[in-house]
Amino acid sequence: MINVIGLGYIGLPTALMMASHGLEVVGTDYNKGLVDTLNSGRTTFKEDGLDKLFDEALKAGIKFTTEYARTGMYIISVPTPYDKFSKKVDPGYVVAAVRDVLKVCPPDATLVIESTVSPGTIDKHVRPVVEAWSSETGNRINLVHAPERIIPGNMVYELLHNNRTIGADDKAVGEEVKACYASFCQGEIVVTDIRTAEMTKVVENTFRAVNIAFANELARI
Ligand SMILES: NC(=O)c1ccc[n+]([C@@H]2O[C@H](COP(=O)([O-])OP(=O)(O)OC[C@H]3O[C@@H](n4cnc5c(N)ncnc54)[C@H](O)[C@@H]3O)[C@@H](O)[C@H]2O)c1
Repeated sequence: MINVIGLGYIGLPTALMMASHGLEVVGTDYNKGLVDTLNSGRTTFKEDGLDKLFDEALKAGIKFTTEYARTGMYIISVPTPYDKFSKKVDPGYVVAAVRDVLKVCPPDATLVIESTVSPGTIDKHVRPVVEAWSSETGNRINLVHAPERIIPGNMVYELLHNNRTIGADDKAVGEEVKACYASFCQGEIVVTDIRTAEMTKVVENTFRAVNIAFANELARI
């Protein structure tokens, strides 16, 4: 079973995709209103194809709750807002979600961070929390980073067709996570290390930002 933590713009469709492609999925969000809306059979935002995907996932048995599940794999897709004062991405929600998951997860669980983070964030902010838990409990956790690359507006298509990068400490664990994404993703999925996966996301976003800035400069001319 997979527990998707954070059922917003990224987490909800990811959970729905996996559920509608044969995986057992529980979606968790601490926003009770959001969970109540989903449990009443309504989606929380509009995107082409989302309602159909939602119906398929419901038929496949997806569950929505405010509780964290005890299971072997977690996908964390909580916000990572840009802090305009420090000019850094704030990893606070991710770290809080990891701490919450560690309260319930079994030994050897896999924690997939799907949120957008800057390179080095997992080693600097997530790994120390996991290592402290490991030395307290004597158990280990598998850390994975699988950044989401979709652009809003065409999300369902992009989830199905984009290539993906999965960074893992352990290649075999990376391959297991790849198999979950490959249940729905028709693009290429590359397994690499966590640092490289973090880097691919910032390189892609920077490339896009440079091109937008270039187009704006041309428009001014
Ligand atoms: N929105 C996009 O187009 C997009 C594209 C690519 C990547 N991303 C990245 O994906 C991540 C998620 O973004 P989003 O747009 O889905 O955010 P969002 O604000 O739409 O949803 C996040 C959800 O997480 C929930 N949440 C936060 N902390 C929680 C916790 N500890 N336990 C349970 N639920 C919790 C919130 O209640 C919220 O519903 C961010 O890192 C973002 O940068 C977003």
